[in-house]
Amino acid sequence: MEKRGNFSNKIGFVLAAAGSAVGLGNIWRFPYLAAKYGGGTFLLVYLILAVTFGFSLMIAEIAIGRKTGLSAIGAFKALDKRFGAVGYLAAIIPIIIFPYYSVIGGWVIKYLVTFCSGGGMAAANDNYFGTFAAGTAEPLIYFFIFIAFTALVVWFGVEKGIEKVSKVMMPILVVLTIFIAIYGLTIDGAKDGLIYYIKPRLSDFTFKTVIAAMGQLFYSMSLAMGIMITYGSYMKKENNLESSVRQIEIFDTAIAFLAGLTIIPAVFAFSGGDKAALGKGPSLMFVTLPKVFDSMPFGNVIGTVFFVLVLFAALTSAISLMETIVSIFSDKLGWSRHKATLIVFICAVAIGVLPCLGFGVLDFIHIGAMTILDIMDFVSNSILMPICALFTCILIGFVVKPKAVIDEATRNGEKFKSRNLFVVVIKWVSPICLVLILISSILDALGIFTI
Ligand code: TRP
Repeated sequence: MEKRGNFSNKIGFVLAAAGSAVGLGNIWRFPYLAAKYGGGTFLLVYLILAVTFGFSLMIAEIAIGRKTGLSAIGAFKALDKRFGAVGYLAAIIPIIIFPYYSVIGGWVIKYLVTFCSGGGMAAANDNYFGTFAAGTAEPLIYFFIFIAFTALVVWFGVEKGIEKVSKVMMPILVVLTIFIAIYGLTIDGAKDGLIYYIKPRLSDFTFKTVIAAMGQLFYSMSLAMGIMITYGSYMKKENNLESSVRQIEIFDTAIAFLAGLTIIPAVFAFSGGDKAALGKGPSLMFVTLPKVFDSMPFGNVIGTVFFVLVLFAALTSAISLMETIVSIFSDKLGWSRHKATLIVFICAVAIGVLPCLGFGVLDFIHIGAMTILDIMDFVSNSILMPICALFTCILIGFVVKPKAVIDEATRNGEKFKSRNLFVVVIKWVSPICLVLILISSILDALGIFTI
């Protein structure tokens, strides 16, 4: 009996953490980065980073949370007073991500409405997305609907219900994605795309591939922003830390891989492997998938179902992002839940207007080819998250020592199989990589040096 209880608790923990991890990052962000930064080369770099770096950082964060029983701001301070500021830094990251995440959420609603009303054929047109995103009223309205709904859920605190629904929706999403991927692979010319996506080529390898892959790893696994610390603080002491982390990782990576499989071979098929089409960036999912749906029988129905499911994945992640921000404000400033929700909502709408209009009236604000949305994404994922991760590595590697995490992972006499890997990665490999990445992404952003 006892064992059974533990088992289901662990599954519960893994699903909750995976629920936070799986979102637009997997379905929208991973495929466009993989297409842009070398296909199979990106995939290989991402996988290597996931099992070494991602694993070490996630187990460190969850262990910090479980050991201290606190969320980020308190946990860093509890381990070492001098590291209290890192907790605050971690808290800023979701504040930047949430508004632009909701802009993309709005795009998903727009596509849902389009397919639902039978407009799939129009959406398959090359200019459809660009014309929509460059508008003013429409992107704003959809962004507002998405963020208002998220805020409503956080206000009423009905996340339990949403969680239940998403446990049904997520498996359906996986099945439907597999189906669309298989269909996409049968399109003429998709085979070359498949090869591009899974076969690494040394010639495509650049330092940027590593930077993009690492940023994506943070984003996709909700790392380096205190989320996993909070989840760890809710984890039962008797559950196995190492195997939980492995399961979360496999789950998250598998869904990202599948999403790439639905999108990248299809981009190839429809563009004849054109580099410009592959480098489309944030709009990739919205430009390619409608073409696939359009070429399918019952494309409007399948498109509708697909975007409903993506919307759910996006909503559950947006809700937990907003929850995080609301709880930071209510804990630190003593605001009531309702007051914090309202203020966070107003601020997020105000901030979100910028990335939302960055493709249209505000498109004069850009750094190089980066729009406001790209800039916010870049600052949070390629600058703040590496800084936060760097301090976490220093804290664990040299201040409290890796033994603290190892003890936490083996407190019930479990074996820590990747123990040596963990120590080397957290003390040496990660800090060195993070410093290099930080320097190069800052230089790159300033346009001093482009890799
Ligand atoms: N991991 C989420 C995704 O893949 C995005 C995300 C980053 C997130 N940090 C988060 C979600 C914190 C919830 C909470 O889409």
